[in-house]
Amino acid sequence: MIVMGIESSCDETGVGIVRYHESGAAAGTCEMLADEVASSVDQHARFGGVVPEIASRAHLEAIVPTMRRALAAADVERPDAVAVTIGPGLAGALLVGVAAAKAYAAAWGVPFYAVNHLGGHVAVDTLEHGPMPECVALLVSGGHTHLLEVSSLADPIVELGSTVDDAAGEAFDKVARLLGLGYPGGPVLDRLAAQGDPTAIAFPRGMTGPRDARYDFSFSGLKTAVARYVEKSERTGTPLVVADVAASFQEAVADVLTLKAMRALEDRGIDTLVLGGGATANSRIRSLAEERCAAAGVTLRVPTPRRCTDNGVMIATLGAHVAASGAAPSSLGAATDPGLPV
Ligand code: KG4
Ligand code: ZN
Repeated sequence: MIVMGIESSCDETGVGIVRYHESGAAAGTCEMLADEVASSVDQHARFGGVVPEIASRAHLEAIVPTMRRALAAADVERPDAVAVTIGPGLAGALLVGVAAAKAYAAAWGVPFYAVNHLGGHVAVDTLEHGPMPECVALLVSGGHTHLLEVSSLADPIVELGSTVDDAAGEAFDKVARLLGLGYPGGPVLDRLAAQGDPTAIAFPRGMTGPRDARYDFSFSGLKTAVARYVEKSERTGTPLVVADVAASFQEAVADVLTLKAMRALEDRGIDTLVLGGGATANSRIRSLAEERCAAAGVTLRVPTPRRCTDNGVMIATLGAHVAASGAAPSSLGAATDPGLPV
């Protein structure tokens, strides 16, 4: 079975194509045939964040050429099914991918599967690391920060917790902006942090008190603490060691993310952690997750950076698992759901 997946929930227009193996040695797994992504990230840079209207227009321009490129790369004329991100994401952006997926599924006369973007971030890991055991997934990007419990890719995913304010990647972007580092700020801040002292400034660890929700996150207090620290140094004329600010901020984010993930693994008696989302490219989030998983005897699975960010292959992979489970296809009348829960 060959499945095309379309992703347009944020600023990446992604079209991926996978072959799902129903039998043989690779039974139950997907093989990647095409992975085409067009990004509008450069168009958002001067605004310091994703501008929904610009993202929607860029999707409109990119969607058909990206689909054509993926079909050509996979040497496929017509897939056996089309899957698409139905939510969560930006309303206008989602609409473009969903309209294209419905139109092509109808024209080709193949089933249409509307899937959840967050599940896609988990599913994509199976391409590199094989079938997914029961796991806890930590998804961190510019748009989401979620702690999930996954029993199987075809079953509903349980949300254990999420951010109550900013997403982790968004906090990186906002702090980078505050420090005058440009957008997207995560990668620059990460590089700068490598030259700083992560213990230089004791920034707060949000929602880690005994009365706080066990699995939820909050990053707005941390962002405010960084802003206050910068203001104070300007006011008092104390030279600001930007690398120390970056390293201490990054340490606070990585600490809280991995602390809550380890807590969930221990509470639920699960021994596999999957990371996903663009911010898992962060060197400290990765190294701290590695350290803490090794200490707890937990297997850590992290997709290659290109597949941690939004792409179409993750949607094709999830769509293939849903289709293979025998679930009924979605209605071509299915509406986008920008606030879709897990
Ligand atoms: O998944 P993604 O490409 O797009 C969505 O937000 O959905 O993630 C992009 C986010 C941005 O906020 C970016 O600053 C952050 O991931 N990011 C990083 C790093 N690389 C990307 N954050 C911290 N450290 C990094 N190395
Ligand atoms: Zn995403």
